[in-house]
Amino acid sequence: GPAPACTLVVFGAAGDLTKRLVVPALYNLVSERRLSEGFRLVGVDHNRRSVEEWRQGLLDQLRDSVGSDAEFQAEAIDGTAWRWLCERMSYLEGDLNDPETYARLREHLAELERSAGTAGNCLFYLAVGERFFGVAVQGLAAAGLLAEARGRWRRVVIEKPFGRDLASARALNTKILTMMRERQIYRIDHFLGKETVQNIMALRFANGLFEPLWNRQHIDHVQITAAETVGVEHRAGFYERTGALRDMVPNHVFQLLAMTAMEPPISFDADAVRDKKAEVLQAIRPLSRRRVLRDVVRGQYDAGTVLDRTVEAYRREPGVAPDSATETFVACKLKIENWRWAGVPFYLRTGKRMRKRWTEIAVRFHQAPYTLFRGTHVERMHPNWLILRIQPDEGIALEFAAKRPGPAVALSSVSMDFAYRSHFEMAPRTGYETLIYDCMTGDATLFQRADNIEAGWRAVQPILDVWAEAPPSISRSTPPAATARPRRMPCWRATGAPGARWPDRQKEHD
Ligand code: BG6
Repeated sequence: GPAPACTLVVFGAAGDLTKRLVVPALYNLVSERRLSEGFRLVGVDHNRRSVEEWRQGLLDQLRDSVGSDAEFQAEAIDGTAWRWLCERMSYLEGDLNDPETYARLREHLAELERSAGTAGNCLFYLAVGERFFGVAVQGLAAAGLLAEARGRWRRVVIEKPFGRDLASARALNTKILTMMRERQIYRIDHFLGKETVQNIMALRFANGLFEPLWNRQHIDHVQITAAETVGVEHRAGFYERTGALRDMVPNHVFQLLAMTAMEPPISFDADAVRDKKAEVLQAIRPLSRRRVLRDVVRGQYDAGTVLDRTVEAYRREPGVAPDSATETFVACKLKIENWRWAGVPFYLRTGKRMRKRWTEIAVRFHQAPYTLFRGTHVERMHPNWLILRIQPDEGIALEFAAKRPGPAVALSSVSMDFAYRSHFEMAPRTGYETLIYDCMTGDATLFQRADNIEAGWRAVQPILDVWAEAPPSISRSTPPAATARPRRMPCWRATGAPGARWPDRQKEHD
């Protein structure tokens, strides 16, 4: 049913995230009748503009999504849904550093409560740069906007990146937790809004087949890949300071890892699930300096061809320093120190401007213990893989060996393949729909708790430390474990050449 009445206040109303994801998600929620009559949307940003101008900008972006390769594809804008949303929008110009902004917001919210039946419930969405998170929460708290009373709730959605390292993430948690309670905080990671990510839990915990095999006795290693074809886009200001590791690993990639490796929770309650995730993230073995140098690789894209299009080098993208040392690719090998996973490597990699868009979790099972099929017709072993395809072409495949027809004994790898699209209707979605709806209904299962965030940063901190010591040395060698790399990608790596030792699922197929 529809979520409870509330006002959604978006800070950073004119920003990229609001336009590209938050508002399209709201629009989808309207089409699905998930928002209540008492819903209101308030945009806050520092520029002077009328609510009409704000709406127009949002609509242009919504239209732009049509036909693009974005996840969100509105075939045609549904006028009724859009009008419904427009009637509920208002815009407030204000600087997040100015207490006056929050005072005006308080008045506006009180007015909406009286006139629009929002029940006084508020969801404050911080779609702003990381440096404003603390400031905004402080402003809200000082204006009394975070106080819950008379059955009305106040919640804050905090975008990623939550901090830039372990120390800043801790400091931010400490700061905001003096002003509100953990249960009011929704630290968002939009990967958790993806159906296929949520499906990892269904696969593991709703089936009797997989879980008995889901451990070191049967699994050889796991490869998690999040490859994008897009480059830095218009986000150089953010990305230059962030890089692929901070942008993707402690959050999105670790969420995939946690879903794959966590112990079964005792229920699907928010804390039951987050307890298990925290546990597994805390069990990631801290990388020593030696291991960082050996098992972590970074790269930066050069000019080349991606999806038949010629693309610029990262250093020539608008807003990027010509000698930028920011990594756009990172791969690392991690171990999880617990009974289930001892000795099973997890290979993680992510990058921009890769050859294809491709996010998957590939679980490789042990080889058969003994090769019966020896001889001239059998060229190689055929490993068993379970592939969870997160995007695109969402689905699950199980690969195994089968005998090729004919008199000779020869084997081929074949695949049992489940494609989401052939079984379910997949509505166009951004991934934010579920998450925003969950915030409104108060379900924090798919959000990161303070300890989850800190465990993620703790695991990548040794990499940040080693990288901070010395700038990358440039080499033109191709990166290991990077089949999906664009052509001519220069790879910087710390010393050592883990390449040859790194398994690569795609290579086995090529
Ligand atoms: C964001 C990162 O969090 O996730 C982006 O900041 C990245 O750099 C994006 O492109 C990837 O998300 P998706 O849903 O497109 O795979």
